[in-house]
Amino acid sequence: MKKIVTLTINKEHYEVAVEPNRTLADLLRYDLGLTGTKKGCDTGDCGACTVVLDGDVVNSCLVLALQADNTTIETIEGLSNEDGLHPLQEAFVEKGAIQCGFCTPGMIMSAKNLLDKNGNPSDTEIREGLSGNLCRCTGYTKIFEAVSSQCSDNQGGSNE
Ligand code: FES
Ligand code: FES
Repeated sequence: MKKIVTLTINKEHYEVAVEPNRTLADLLRYDLGLTGTKKGCDTGDCGACTVVLDGDVVNSCLVLALQADNTTIETIEGLSNEDGLHPLQEAFVEKGAIQCGFCTPGMIMSAKNLLDKNGNPSDTEIREGLSGNLCRCTGYTKIFEAVSSQCSDNQGGSNE
């Protein structure tokens, strides 16, 4: 039997009726049309479905929609605005950190959450912050460079 969940997603208020076994990833993609959040494995292994829930990154394929009741969620759709892409998105483009793009939304949400919590992470902290996100295309170096370029006092170089 469906139940109503109330969520704030990218600063918009939603009330949605969901089945008890509906995941947050499926709620976002199939009920709300927020298809920027990807599903690569559905088992918590790839990070493609990463969103920020109440300030922390989660694999949305492992969160039931009912568990997300009364939470605040940020997805990749919330990063850009009428002025254009978020600087982190721009950095991914400029550094060539996107190939097929499938990992990119989750990767950027993890990176943004990392930088929101620590504006100047070390190289190790960047690698740890992205460790839950798999990419089969880029070899990670350009992704690392893109995130590193957004550190507050490290415009593209090493800070370790
Ligand atoms: S789809 Fe959720 S971790 Fe892979
Ligand atoms: S760019 Fe293809 S999986 Fe990362």
